[in-house]
Amino acid sequence: MITNDIRYVGVNDHEVDLFEGQYLVPNGMAYNSYVIVDDKVAVMDTVDQHFGESWLSNIAAVLGERRPDYLVVQHMEPDHSANIVKFLERYPDATVVGNAKTFVMMAQFFPDAPEMKRLIVKDGETLTLGKHTLTFVFAPMVHWPEVMVSYDSFDKVLFSADGFGKFGALDVEDEWDCEARRYYIGIVGKYGMQVQKLLKAAATLDIAIICPLHGPILKENLGHYIEKYDIWSSYRPEDSGVMIAYASVYGHTKAAAEELARELESRGQKVVLADLAREDMAECVEDAFRYDRLVLASVTYNGDIFPPMHAFLHALTERSFQNRTVAFMENGTWAPAAARIMAAALEKSKNITFAQEKVTMKSAMNQDTKASIRRLAEELAK
Ligand code: FEO
Repeated sequence: MITNDIRYVGVNDHEVDLFEGQYLVPNGMAYNSYVIVDDKVAVMDTVDQHFGESWLSNIAAVLGERRPDYLVVQHMEPDHSANIVKFLERYPDATVVGNAKTFVMMAQFFPDAPEMKRLIVKDGETLTLGKHTLTFVFAPMVHWPEVMVSYDSFDKVLFSADGFGKFGALDVEDEWDCEARRYYIGIVGKYGMQVQKLLKAAATLDIAIICPLHGPILKENLGHYIEKYDIWSSYRPEDSGVMIAYASVYGHTKAAAEELARELESRGQKVVLADLAREDMAECVEDAFRYDRLVLASVTYNGDIFPPMHAFLHALTERSFQNRTVAFMENGTWAPAAARIMAAALEKSKNITFAQEKVTMKSAMNQDTKASIRRLAEELAK
C-alpha cells in the first residue's frame, strides 16, 4: 500500500538476462504498476510481457470484484506496455488513456489490437477519478517521445514513468544512487535537456511521493533524488576523482594505468581503474560521468584503437559526455596513434579540457614513461 487509495501491483523479474537487451542486472529488475482506487479505478501502466498473468492477479487481489475504469499508458516501451492487449481481453470496457503519440505507437506494437475505448489527453489535461485528479505532464524523450508523467494532487504523488527508476528488483536491498545512476546514464543519459525541463515542471508541484516505473517508491528525502537528477541531467561531475579507463592487450598499457593510479593516490586523489575489455561497460560509462577527470589509456590496434575503447568512447559521446578534464595514455610498438584517435573521437564533445601531458609508450614502460606518468599525475592532481 502506498497511500490509502494507491496500491502497488508491479512485479519483480529475476529471470531477465539483459535488461533492454544490453544491461546486466545482477539484482533483477522491477516493472512497477499502480492502481488508484477511487470512485473510478485507474491502473497506471502494465508490465513486461513475461509477467502479464501475475500482474493481472495483483490487480484482481486489490480490486476484488471491481473492474478498472482506466488504463493510463505513460510510456509505450514494451517493458511497460506489453500487456495492454491482455488487459483489454480481461477488461474490455476499460478506457485506455494516452496522448496522440501513445496511440500511434500502440497501433504499431499491436496491429491486431481489439477496438478499445480511448481517451486522448493533451499536455496539462486532467482526469478526475473522484477525490483524486491526475494531471498529465508530457515528458518527451524521458525516455521516448510519447512519455508523460502523471501527478495526483490528492495524495501529492508523482507517477514519474522511467524518471527516478533504477536497476534491481524490489525484493533485493541495494543502494539507490549506484544503480539509479547506472540506469540513468545508460538509458536516459542522452536526454539531459529534456530531463531538466521535466525537473522544472516538477518543481512547481507539491510532491510527497514519487512512484517510478522501476525501482523503489520514494517517500522520504526526495531532495536527495531530485538533486542527483539535476546533477546527472546537467552533465555536471558528481564527485571529485579520476577514472582511468584502459584497453590493454598484453598488460603493458594496464601496468601504465596502474602506475598512474598509484601516483595519483599518493597525491591524495580518489581513483577508479577500469579494464574496458572485462568490466561491465555500463558501469564504466557511469563512472566516466560520475567523476570530474577521465584518463583514457589504449593500445594502438590495426592503426586505430583497441575495440573496447572504441565502444566506450562511442557510449560516452552518444550520451553527450561533456564538462570534464580528459587525459590520454597511448601504447604502440611501431606507430603509436591511439591518443590522436581518442582525441578525435571527443572532438565534438562540449567543454572538455585536455591535459597537456600525454603519455606515449612504445611496448613497455621505461624510465621516460614513468617520468611522463608522474608529470600527468602532477597535472591532474592540481
Ligand atoms: Fe522502462 Fe523506457 O522503459
